[in-house]
Amino acid sequence: MRLILRELFLNRSLFNFMGSYMDKAYKLIRSGRVFEGGAHLRDILARQRAAMDFYSWEAFARLEAVRHPIKEIMHLCPMTSRSFHKPRGYAGDAVMIDHIYGLGDAKFAPHPATLEGQVYFATMNSASIRAVRFRRDILAKLIDETVKKAGDGQARILSIAAGHLREAELSQAIREKRVGELIAFDQDAESLAVVNHDYAGLNIHPIQGTVRQLIGGKAKYSGLDLVYAAGLFDYLEQPVGKRLVEKMFDMVRPGGKIMIANFTHDIPDAGYMEALMDWWLIYRSPEQVIDLFSGLPQERIGKLEAFYDPDQNIIFATVSKLA
Ligand SMILES: C[S@@+](CC[C@H](N)C(=O)[O-])C[C@H]1O[C@@H](n2cnc3c(N)ncnc32)[C@H](O)[C@@H]1O
Repeated sequence: MRLILRELFLNRSLFNFMGSYMDKAYKLIRSGRVFEGGAHLRDILARQRAAMDFYSWEAFARLEAVRHPIKEIMHLCPMTSRSFHKPRGYAGDAVMIDHIYGLGDAKFAPHPATLEGQVYFATMNSASIRAVRFRRDILAKLIDETVKKAGDGQARILSIAAGHLREAELSQAIREKRVGELIAFDQDAESLAVVNHDYAGLNIHPIQGTVRQLIGGKAKYSGLDLVYAAGLFDYLEQPVGKRLVEKMFDMVRPGGKIMIANFTHDIPDAGYMEALMDWWLIYRSPEQVIDLFSGLPQERIGKLEAFYDPDQNIIFATVSKLA
């Protein structure tokens, strides 16, 4: 905190200058040009984030940006506001992610003809949010491919940090009960209760547990066909991420596959997410993502593949184990 205050003191005039750019976004929104104002806001926050060192940026985000009147407007968006206030103690909970998918609490979304509704629409159509929807599609395809390969009723799959496991609704194999077992593993009991309710009778088993338990061996799995984690590595420091990748690889059978997804570095929405959603993720370059796999026994790796969503906001990496 002392460091942040020091940066605030040193950068006072720069921060005032940035505030004037935020004024422009505010005026655009107030005049009814909500989508344009939202895009302008994301753009200027991205530029400032890129131009500043981390401490100056953090000081601006935590102490200045949140005092600008545009914060109250952007917090009319229930997703932005939920991330900022963190009713479950962390940003990015499954209820918040449901807004992105148009499920769950999204049914309470504000009416499109109101200012609230327009702010919501603007937020829901940014590049990072589109990427999260794309990620859900990828997960469902991966599940379907795994079931096709293993045969009906055979595939055993683990989703780490499953949230509400919304990919279940897009997977034909899950809907047709052709998955042998899908373990939905997450720290959040409330989210798992939703999985239990919404996907009962589909061979899905919610299990409460943490990454720490997986790494420490208190939660153990083996012989799985697929282990994946989406929306988790963005919260893990590199050494923890590497340990988890090693554990994931141990859990799959020969011929099985692991997959992780991570937001890429310098995505255009990072400034908005940090300053107005108080959502501080760990962004990774392709090299940092590949480095997560560097501790694996190279002689047992079949194939390592990496690809992006169309906006290049999320990088996906899969590794198969030699049969
Ligand atoms: C952004 S959501 C992703 C949910 C889902 N995988 C998706 O793609 O929609 C992040 C999830 O990670 C879980 N999570 C975060 N840290 C965790 C940890 N250390 N151990 C277990 N779960 C964790 C949270 O409870 C939350 O449900």
